[in-house]
Amino acid sequence: MSQPVADLERWIRGEFTELNTELEELYFTEKAIILAGRSDVDSLVDTLVREGESLIARVAERQELPADQDSRYELLGLVGFYLGACRRHEVEPDQSRIAPLALALSTSLGVAPRFSSAHQHLHNRAVGGAFHTFTALDSERIFLTYNGLAVMAYRRAAHALLGIPPLGVSNPLATYHFSDALAALGNVMAYSRTLADELDRDRFFYNIRPYFKSYRVGRSEYRGANAGDFAAINTIDVLLGLCSPHDPFYQWVAADKYPYVAPEDQPVLRALATTESLLAAFLRELEAGPVSLSLRENAELFLAACKQHGAATVFHHHRLVVPYLEEPAANTPSRPDLTASGPPLAVVIETLARLRDLRAARERPGLATARPYLDRVQQLLKPR
Ligand code: HEM
Repeated sequence: MSQPVADLERWIRGEFTELNTELEELYFTEKAIILAGRSDVDSLVDTLVREGESLIARVAERQELPADQDSRYELLGLVGFYLGACRRHEVEPDQSRIAPLALALSTSLGVAPRFSSAHQHLHNRAVGGAFHTFTALDSERIFLTYNGLAVMAYRRAAHALLGIPPLGVSNPLATYHFSDALAALGNVMAYSRTLADELDRDRFFYNIRPYFKSYRVGRSEYRGANAGDFAAINTIDVLLGLCSPHDPFYQWVAADKYPYVAPEDQPVLRALATTESLLAAFLRELEAGPVSLSLRENAELFLAACKQHGAATVFHHHRLVVPYLEEPAANTPSRPDLTASGPPLAVVIETLARLRDLRAARERPGLATARPYLDRVQQLLKPR
């Protein structure tokens, strides 16, 4: 690591976090997302903007990027944390000193030139037990920890399911993978529950969520970071057959997140288009018969995994999105930028509701879900 990068990284782990924490305490005391016209606030924000800008400018001046991909992605995250904090405190940094570095990094990596949630859960190197955060607030630590654990559990489920196509759904060895996927999806639910139990709603709304907003880099605005920007959840959707890579709505979901996932997740998203679902494989084998013991056992585990995946997404909607975002937003004077990704909150919620109903295979007028096919699997499992 070059000296300027090491200095930037030390600052992000130290003063940057302290300044944000101090500011958040001031906002929280007033129950305000931002405090305009306060000299104490302005002075802290000014320090943050100046110090970060000069440290990043020193890295940029060298016009030299780290050779290995992980270091470049990590550096993009550091610059992104700075820009995310500027956006959060509603100040405009000097783009001419920051944007060229962010853009050079993003071009070399093929990702958006901003920080993503992958910088918080998948590429967040701890030093002495402390990983990168915006603040030292307990609520941020809780959010990042349980969100990160849920992402890891989704990745474990995806990894297990990906082991099944080469074995075939009637293979007794596939039972191991189905059981593992089911257990991992159970973990997603457990971590989400812990998050909902432990995360303070007001703290999340006033002090954590605002760092995830969309922000400008150079001439363009890039949508906010969201906890769903990783590929494993889409692998699970498509392998279970709950979402189709040929559905225009779902194609939009995957295409929208493509620049915001970590570089190693992009080929995973690209592979979705050629993935055959396990649901289709089960229907084929069950229709052809005979129903061997292992085919039956695997099909039952598969149906349980679909149910668990649906339950986690329903939980996300009703116990995370509604209480932590929709309800507090309804009680706050209208602000156009309350959601992370930019579109009005009602549009974000509607998109999430559609995804939820696809994942939960609900019967919903005007929406083609996997429900009839799952019911058919169930029916084929009944003794004939
Ligand atoms: C307080 C906690 C959370 C809140 C308020 C929340 C809210 C949201 C919102 C509003 C979106 C829509 C995108 C946007 O921001 O515009 C979203 C997307 C998403 N969130 Fe969360 N979320 C939370 C925690 C989590 C956790 C723990 C996970 C588990 C990994 C998760 C997984 C996802 C996924 C996968 C998506 C993308 C939609 C998709 O492709 O399925 N979220 N979330």
